Amino acid sequence: MAAGLYIAFEGGEGSGKSTQAKILAKRIDALLTLEPGGTELGAQLRKLLLGVGEAPVGSRAETLMMAADRAQHLEELVVPALEAGRHVVSDRTAYSSLAYQGGARGLGIDAVRSVNDWAMAGRWPDVVVLLDCPAGAGPRGRRSSDRLEQEGDAFHDTVRATYLELANNEPDRFVVLEANGTIDEVSQRVWSALADRFDWTDE
Ligand code: TMP
Repeated sequence: MAAGLYIAFEGGEGSGKSTQAKILAKRIDALLTLEPGGTELGAQLRKLLLGVGEAPVGSRAETLMMAADRAQHLEELVVPALEAGRHVVSDRTAYSSLAYQGGARGLGIDAVRSVNDWAMAGRWPDVVVLLDCPAGAGPRGRRSSDRLEQEGDAFHDTVRATYLELANNEPDRFVVLEANGTIDEVSQRVWSALADRFDWTDE
């Protein structure tokens, strides 16, 4: 049996990626999941990482906790689904760590890449759909309901710039799409780009 495809949705706050991940997963009958928080352990880590009022978390601890969430996520959900021949659509993956911790927190892409490579035993997403928009100007605007959303404009500008740099360096893995537009317009954009790449046909 052919292994499933590991499809990542990435983007800044308010880019609409969760909505688009859901739409695509339904359309191709993929397992829909998320980071941080896709497993029982992950849900606990998510609360510690993002909850306003939780204990302080430094940048290195944040990186390692995101990587721990991911290690569990891959081992418990993602890899078994792929091996069973199911596609997986993940709302955020290790590329979020490269953009947020490597870029915006200033820890460096290479260092964060190697921690994550180990955490995932080398299983990086097959394709990354990056929904790009200026920080805070996506279809869903900016909320400030968690710790990372509360970071300032410079932080979120760096997240965006880092994503674009990553995409530029890995053109075979990334599909960069404009995040703005109606939900239907963007989902059509996502579908056309992936259908093109993987020879999917409309059923
Ligand atoms: P979201 O799931 O609502 O997008 O929120 C997750 C937040 O966590 C978002 O601000 C991005 C951040 N994040 C990181 O900083 N590093 C990571 O590796 C992941 C997966 C998320």
